[in-house]
Amino acid sequence: MSGTNIKITAIDEKSAHLQEVIDLGRANSSTLGFLPNGAFIKYAADKQLLVALGHSRQVLGYVIYAISIRKALVYIVHLCVQPSHRRQGVAETLFKKLKDLTKIQFRGIRVHCRRDYPADKLWPMLGFIAAMKYLVVVNIKLRSRCGGSIMDIQRCSQTLRNSGHTRNLEWQ
Ligand SMILES: CC(C)(COP(=O)(O)OP(=O)(O)OC[C@H]1O[C@@H](n2cnc3c(N)ncnc32)[C@H](O)[C@@H]1OP(=O)(O)O)[C@@H](O)C(=O)NCCC(=O)NCCS
Repeated sequence: MSGTNIKITAIDEKSAHLQEVIDLGRANSSTLGFLPNGAFIKYAADKQLLVALGHSRQVLGYVIYAISIRKALVYIVHLCVQPSHRRQGVAETLFKKLKDLTKIQFRGIRVHCRRDYPADKLWPMLGFIAAMKYLVVVNIKLRSRCGGSIMDIQRCSQTLRNSGHTRNLEWQ
């Protein structure tokens, strides 16, 4: 499927697609990390969840992003594509839409990824370069958005910082 056959749209918390997104996120939590249901709902309510829909309007993939108005930065929280539709440009199409939506108000997009994950190959293809550390900022943002489960996110942050196999990337 080429990028032109994919429809990218923001969904809200009432969307019938939200459960598909949560299920896809859960199925890939080994690389994405755990996000509570409440966080998926909050990102959707804030219009910070874009889905890629296929011919029969099934969810092929999604991107969730956080924003810092003060820093004028966008942070990719989750980018995920159905295994059956990988390597067909879905992630690239989602990212292009994210760029288009945020390019006027924000000065860059950041993401944190482990070097040993397949996604580490994706970011340079999308134009990302290695950046300074900013993980703490991302986690402060997530803590305020998730409304609860502060302990989990702090633990996750600690694990990532201790892993030594991760890197921060940015697109400007
Ligand atoms: C990473 C992920 C989002 C990529 O989605 P995708 O739709 O397959 O990516 P695209 O088709 O847009 O890939 C664009 C380019 O990135 C590179 N790329 C993407 N996935 C790759 C992989 N597994 N191995 C090597 N290169 C890869 C390729 O250069 C690809 O272009 P090509 O297929 O023409 O060679 C998808 O594999 C996924 O959902 N993984 C599980 C969740 C995850 O780990 N998310 C990232 C968390 S940091």
